This record gives sequence, C-alpha cells and structure tokens, in this order.
Amino acid sequence: MSKVSVIGAGNVGATAANVLVTEGIASEVVLLDIKEGVSEGKAMDIMQSANILKLDSVLKGVTNDYAATADSDVVIITSGIPRKPGMTREELIGVNAGIVKSVTENVLKYSPNAIIICVSNPMDTMTYLIHKDTKLPKNRIIGMGGALDSARFRYYLSQAMGCDYNDVDGFVIGGHGDTTMIPVTRLAVNRGVPASEILDAATLEKVAADTMVGGATLTGLLGTSAWYAPGAAAASVAKAILTDSKAMITCSALVEGEYGVSDLCIGVPCILGKNGIEKIVEYKLTAEEKEKFAKSAEAVRKTNADLPL
Ligand code: LAC
Repeated sequence: MSKVSVIGAGNVGATAANVLVTEGIASEVVLLDIKEGVSEGKAMDIMQSANILKLDSVLKGVTNDYAATADSDVVIITSGIPRKPGMTREELIGVNAGIVKSVTENVLKYSPNAIIICVSNPMDTMTYLIHKDTKLPKNRIIGMGGALDSARFRYYLSQAMGCDYNDVDGFVIGGHGDTTMIPVTRLAVNRGVPASEILDAATLEKVAADTMVGGATLTGLLGTSAWYAPGAAAASVAKAILTDSKAMITCSALVEGEYGVSDLCIGVPCILGKNGIEKIVEYKLTAEEKEKFAKSAEAVRKTNADLPL
C-alpha cells in the first residue's frame, strides 16, 4: 500500500497521476488543484479507463482539500504556471515561488514524513526554495529535471543511432535550463558501445544541442510546456522511491561539495530508494565537463538569488 499525492492537475500533474495508476506505482493517488472541478474531472476520466485497462490503483481528484492528501508517502509538486513559447523557465520564478512555498507548507501539514518531488519551474530553484523553507532532511527533497532531460537525451541518441531506444543509456547533469544542462555525451552508450564510436562528433554534438532545447522545442510546437515525458519522469522518480529500487536517476539534489559545488540544488546522479536520495554519485569528470558544471552551477545560483527568501 502506498499513497502518492500530485499537486497541480495541469497537463504534467494529470499525466503523472495517470502513469502512477496505470503502472500501478501507487495503490492510492490523490490529484489536487485549486481550480474547482479540474482535478475531479481528470481523475474521473482516468478512473473510467481503469476497467478497460484492468487497473488496481485508485485515483481521487480534490479541489484544494489538503486533508485528502494526508499520510502520503510521496508528494509530487507540479503547481505553478508553465512557460509559453519564447519564455525561459527562469522567467517563471516570481509567480511560482509563492505558489510552491504555500503548496509545500500545506502538504507538510498533512504528510509531515512525505518525500517531496519538485517539478515546478524553474525546477532547480524551486527545489532549493523547498529546502530553505522547510529545512527537511536533504534526502527528502528531489527535483525531477534530470530524469526528464536524460530521457530526452536517450530519445535523441536513439533517433541519431537509428536503434532501439531501450538499448540506449546516457544521462544529463547540471541545471534544468536550456543553456545550463550538460548531456554527458562521453558516457552515452548503445548496449555498452560508446555512442562516440557510433556517431561522428558533429552528430553527437547535435544530439546534445537538441537535448538542451528539448523542452523549448516542444513549447514552440505545443504553445505550452510539454507534459507526457515530464509526467512520466516524475512518476519514475516516485517509483524508484516506493519500490526502494536504488535506481540511479539524475535529480536535482542539494549539493554539499559534490562536484565542487555547495548550497544549491542541481542535477547530479542520485541513488533513489525508500529514503529518497540515498546517495549522490560522483563521477570523475573531464576538465571540460567540470568547467561546464561550474558554469551551470553559477547560472542556477544566479536564479536562486531572485528567490524571496
Ligand atoms: C520541460 C519542462 C517541464 O522541460 O521544464 O518540458
């Protein structure tokens, strides 16, 4: 028995809830939104697929009723406004900081032991805000950006290599921003074979560049922020926690000297289990990767400076 609450029934929140119940990741899922009827409607729509798909989980939609989220094991926060075409994630900080702060406080009133997954943008900064505001142990606050960016990286890698996307591995570290994320092309593989031996340097560079603007590309096509992969990425983080899988997923974590950086949340490879972030894995980076990481950290720190702390 496990309970997950998803705060915000927009596209990302509703998709995360849908993945959680269709994959049976949580037996009980609560979808909460401030807008009357939206979460109830989406939950009802999803539950009307339950008999077709022979699901075992139960999803309930509520309007601002935090009591319904009580005793959640995991809470996924997606609240806030999404970006429009031409906007950066960083531009959302003013509005979203206030929303994320009040949502987190409400969540913790009813689920004081929950592990929090932050999806709201600018994601690294919102994750840091939750740390500063709640002072919860650092293992219990997880930003999901790297899970999404790494999935996009693997997508573009499989497209470029023309191979089965399940054969591809690779990850993205650094901030969840168009110019700050770092697809680690050197360590990307297709069934253990380095992608750098399969693709020429220019193609691999294009894969990295496409990954970095992956979210912006979709925002341009859709007129709003993407949701299928972001929702699935958030659910995958919840799954690793609830199954105590010890999966290594890149997440935005509070770093305390790892990769030479402190006092901010940024994408680093994390071992996830029942305690949330159980370990930050420190890969040996090349001088060039280290420099990129330091730059990325500075950009995240600059955005953090705009937080109303
Ligand atoms: C994206 C948003 C969720 O990258 O940040 O699509």
